[in-house]
Amino acid sequence: MASTLAQLKNRFDRALTAAFGTQLSGTDPLLVPTSNPKFGDYQSNVAMSLAKPLKQAPRSIAAQIVSHLEIDDLCAPPEIARPGFINLTLKPAYLETQLQRMLQGDRLGVEPTPHPQHVVVDFSSPNIAKEMHVGHLRSTIIGDSIARILEFQGHDVLRLNHVGDWGTQFGMLITYLREVYPDALTTADALDIGDLVAFYKKAKQRFDEDEDFKEASRQAVVTLQAGDETARRAWQLLCDQSRREFQKIYDLLDIRLTERGESFYNSQLADVVSELDRLGLLVEDAGAKCVFVEGFTNKEGKPLPLIVQKSDGGYNYATTDLAALRYRIEKDNADRLIYVVDAGQSNHFAQVFQVAKRAGWLPENVEAIHVPFGLVQGEDGKKLKTRAGETVRLQDLLDEAIARSRADLEKRLQTENRQETEEFIDRTSKIVGLSAVKYADLSQNRTSNYIFSYDKMLALQGNTAPYLLYAYVRVQGIARKGGIDFEKIAANTPIQLQEETELTLAKHLIGLSEILDDVAADLLPNRLCQYLFELSQKFNQFYDKCPVLQAEEPLRTSRLILCDLSARTIKLGLFLLGIQVLERM
Ligand code: ARG
Repeated sequence: MASTLAQLKNRFDRALTAAFGTQLSGTDPLLVPTSNPKFGDYQSNVAMSLAKPLKQAPRSIAAQIVSHLEIDDLCAPPEIARPGFINLTLKPAYLETQLQRMLQGDRLGVEPTPHPQHVVVDFSSPNIAKEMHVGHLRSTIIGDSIARILEFQGHDVLRLNHVGDWGTQFGMLITYLREVYPDALTTADALDIGDLVAFYKKAKQRFDEDEDFKEASRQAVVTLQAGDETARRAWQLLCDQSRREFQKIYDLLDIRLTERGESFYNSQLADVVSELDRLGLLVEDAGAKCVFVEGFTNKEGKPLPLIVQKSDGGYNYATTDLAALRYRIEKDNADRLIYVVDAGQSNHFAQVFQVAKRAGWLPENVEAIHVPFGLVQGEDGKKLKTRAGETVRLQDLLDEAIARSRADLEKRLQTENRQETEEFIDRTSKIVGLSAVKYADLSQNRTSNYIFSYDKMLALQGNTAPYLLYAYVRVQGIARKGGIDFEKIAANTPIQLQEETELTLAKHLIGLSEILDDVAADLLPNRLCQYLFELSQKFNQFYDKCPVLQAEEPLRTSRLILCDLSARTIKLGLFLLGIQVLERM
């Protein structure tokens, strides 16, 4: 079903053409949901914007539009308010048919996009042998949700993990590996280095204090780049070890990703540089090969270079991103490239996109977007740290969320005098804990920093995962109490919207596909969170006000349908955020 907004826009378009001629067809009717229900549900501001070009008073323009507007099937007669707003109120009968349609199929009335695209979402992307830190967690959670929403809309999504698995640091790591595990390269058993981050730190220390070690490391990079077998095996061992660690986090968070690390593009880097040269974009600056990017200047106001080959001949992060971009467009046929990477890398992406455009690798019809996000801060407003002042390990952070959610649950079970199995307690605390972490991240506008607080994210009240999960559980509780199987409920029972809370809930429910369109366009999952939060509130208000199981038929079934639709919408919405629901909690 086309969203209500899409239908209204269509009707406005016809009315504008009928009233003022075809030159106005395609005019944006400037329709928005009203901020105050007293003005109805939607409001159009188009009459004001047309006053100048049409040289008429807004009120008179509004009257002419309204006289041509055919929306009887959707709305009550439109009202014109000063200075020329057109206010629309949806009819209960329209809401009832829309809800009826949501009941059909399992997409809750959301139609797949008529224009499916090939989309690459580049997210998570941690670095081998380094800590996967909170920044990578944000990228992982936000990227996964964006991918889920686009997939649900029917796009073909390639979820790419652009892991940092290449670069000079491997010389140092390989040399240290040879030093401390000399047998690792000749024995078949998988090596367990244990804490790879500690390993990295020790290697770095050796590198910094010993000249011979440093020289050996440089040699190791050269042999690795040249494809030497033992060097490659050592590199592979290190990558495998890291990969296993990352996978634990992905499994815990239920994240699917295709790994295509920086090393994948290694053989394409020389070509990127020679192409730039051939196109006349390459400049030599102090021995380094670079492209001067427009609009980026240093402190002295001089144009900034984007280095693509260092003076020692090595390539860098930007060269790899140029190769990756080209590959994703040429070989993966991407129509849209989405990079979920912290805001600190905004300049990097703006520069890479600019160079790619000038080189003709990023054509007009392909959209490349950096989706930036802010920092995760501790409750003191500073960068999140452990009490000892160290960076927080992701595994520890997730374990702590689960442990706290377990403590909350056990306390609740005690006060409610409830007996539950160990299995129930394990599963519930795990789902609630992980959901809370994901939701706390997603519910913030990603562009700002946010404060990480276990207490806030686990609270049963407010815009939190537990609050939403609880609304879902409440509906399942109604079903259990009434012995109701929602799947068997007569879908042909007419829905009747009588009470104000029922109408409000219904209007909110039918807005799902609009919200998903918005999130797919601006890539802000917090808007979906806000929608689900308001839905849970509206459901709770409805349920507090309207008897359901106690109501007389056919109202009882009609209300049960409202409950079911609310729960299914919450479930689908949470699924699109990467969050699982519980039947009881
Ligand atoms: N590995 C990088 C980092 O940890 C992020 C990579 C993001 N993706 C990309 N195509 N540059 O900062």
